[in-house]
Amino acid sequence: MSFEPLFGKHKIFYGADYNPEQWLDTPEILEKDLELMKQAHCSIMSVGIFSWAKLEPQEGVYNFEWLDKVLDNLNSIGVKVFLATPSGARPGWMSKKYPEVLRVWDNRVRALHGGRHNHCASSPVYREMVKKIDTALAERYSHHPAVLGWHISNEFSGSCHCEYCQKRFREWLKQKYKTLDNLNKAYWSTFWSHTYSSWDEIESPSSIGESAVHALNLDWKRFNTELCMDFCKHEIDTVKAVNPALPVTTNFMEFFYDYDYFEFSKILDFISWDSYPEWHVYKDEEKIPVYTAMNHDLMRSLKGGKPFVLMEETPTCTNWRGLSKLKKPNMNTLGSLQAMAHGADNIQYFQWRKSRGSSEKFHGAFIDHVGHLDTRAGHEECELGAKLEKLGEIAGSLVDAKVAIVFDTVNRWAIDDAQGPRNCGKKYLEVCLDYYKALWKKGVNVDVIDETCPLDKYKVVIAPMTYMIRGDYAKRVEKFVQNGGHYVSSFWSGIVDDTDLCFLGGFPGPLKEILGIWDEEIEALGDDESVQVKSICDCTGFNRCFSATHLCALIHAQGAKVLAEYDSDFFKGMAAATVNTYGKGKAYYVASRLEESFIDALVGSILKENDIHGPIETLPFDVSCHTRYNDEYEYVFLGNYSSKAQTVLLPCECTDILNHNKSVSGQVTLEPYGSLVLKHKR
Ligand code: GLA
Ligand code: ZN
Repeated sequence: MSFEPLFGKHKIFYGADYNPEQWLDTPEILEKDLELMKQAHCSIMSVGIFSWAKLEPQEGVYNFEWLDKVLDNLNSIGVKVFLATPSGARPGWMSKKYPEVLRVWDNRVRALHGGRHNHCASSPVYREMVKKIDTALAERYSHHPAVLGWHISNEFSGSCHCEYCQKRFREWLKQKYKTLDNLNKAYWSTFWSHTYSSWDEIESPSSIGESAVHALNLDWKRFNTELCMDFCKHEIDTVKAVNPALPVTTNFMEFFYDYDYFEFSKILDFISWDSYPEWHVYKDEEKIPVYTAMNHDLMRSLKGGKPFVLMEETPTCTNWRGLSKLKKPNMNTLGSLQAMAHGADNIQYFQWRKSRGSSEKFHGAFIDHVGHLDTRAGHEECELGAKLEKLGEIAGSLVDAKVAIVFDTVNRWAIDDAQGPRNCGKKYLEVCLDYYKALWKKGVNVDVIDETCPLDKYKVVIAPMTYMIRGDYAKRVEKFVQNGGHYVSSFWSGIVDDTDLCFLGGFPGPLKEILGIWDEEIEALGDDESVQVKSICDCTGFNRCFSATHLCALIHAQGAKVLAEYDSDFFKGMAAATVNTYGKGKAYYVASRLEESFIDALVGSILKENDIHGPIETLPFDVSCHTRYNDEYEYVFLGNYSSKAQTVLLPCECTDILNHNKSVSGQVTLEPYGSLVLKHKR
């Protein structure tokens, strides 16, 4: 991959969602905005996200003058624009005249007008309306000098159960299965006499109808990813018909559940996402940076490592949580630089100016109700803007990850839907985070991929709880290990195929040979239960004891070497962790959710064997270290997530980019919630 800044400029763009349509009656405020944007070093605004009612107040009657002015004004101060298509919310006249644009919920009741993000993606009328407004916007603005790209709609989510959508779903199933007989077999529909005898009998899953056919539930989710993509593609094709050169994105969300983002990403030119970490709410604060870091890594990995845009974060607080706490001093900068460390080339907030009314009037914004930047948050925002200007050379630089974690959305749906050994918390994401955290603590860069992604570019692939083995995944794992890769698997892996049919002949199904084990049974532990595990190998220490929680696979080593064994309960003496030498590589299996120190030791020994390490030998407990690189330099991002100052020992002389390019070496100090961006020649 080459070093290509996203927008062809050596610049980290800084800005916000800008909603001038809320302020058209107060031109002096719009005027003031320009002055404040300059003061805060802003260079980008996302404009028009919810402007439809102002752009088309009546069907076919357009009003673009205000937007002309806004774009020209932004252009006059050198601020670029992501221009939004307004399909995330529609004007009231449309819902009134064409109720089919409104979504039907799973109980088959049609929504009333209101809210947002709730259109029917199949409705021909809605598609037509969207096409008209998008075309008008594209014709008027897609060659405007301020416009850098398209922000398609906003935070796509959910599904609609109307007749249009049902029809499309049946067609989609026909395409996939060809015959009803194939579908019935894949769905194991003989069970409870759920056999379909005609395509018309198939209905989307519903709380008042079918919800027990897991393969149907999964197909509905897959279908909705494709339907939403199809709707988004309809918008993309519309705007690209006018100017194919303008890149497109839509803003994604954190560990998003409704759609498979690895699929969705294929139709986008670049990835952007909205990040709202609860920095101070969790008791164990240190988990939040880990969780957020993994999210950023996922976003970067969606397009094979290409830099992404942080489309939304808040400079201070949200307003939609039980408790919406303020970011402590430095935290806004720390969170923003964290995004950069993991590959973000833009830092943007929701929103530019706090609304006066309605539901988000107390959500943090660049400009508070007071109307100037001379505030605690405003000072930090301006300082961050100045800092980002110094970091322009980092735009387009890449993250070198030799380790990947597999976190697969379809597998996640399947795990959550299956009624199995432990329905009170399946914890797929949490278990992935256990391993991610071990890597984070060592300052090792990680890609977060899914089962469809190439594995060959990694030395180590960690794939906890791959309950569903999709497509040719097992074959690619086999090749990966045979060629020398180190693969880590866990309990609840290799259980079902693509349509949720269990593998026959012993778990973990197609991974059995590679892992050299047979997983005979699985024991579920309650939240307050644990069992003892004793390590019997060098890598995690002889006779060291660890606790295991959650689920315990009761396995037999069949060729694999035992690394640790259960030391309590009726399965005392059975293997709890194994390693199998397979071809030139190794395949590990961890049979239970083992405590942090075990995972640290195991991951540590695998990294050591593969000569993978971060730039800093030992990191203090809540300090993070991640790197990006280009042809000339490695950039080292250090972040201190604790309320205490922390010191770090640098391995070589570096340049402190944010601090007058001073040369630094030896011990450096990070203030409470402080961050440093250093560089050194490669
Ligand atoms: C989302 C939306 C924004 C706004 C913010 C508030 O990310 O895209 O329009 O509602 O949440 O946190
Ligand atoms: Zn519909």
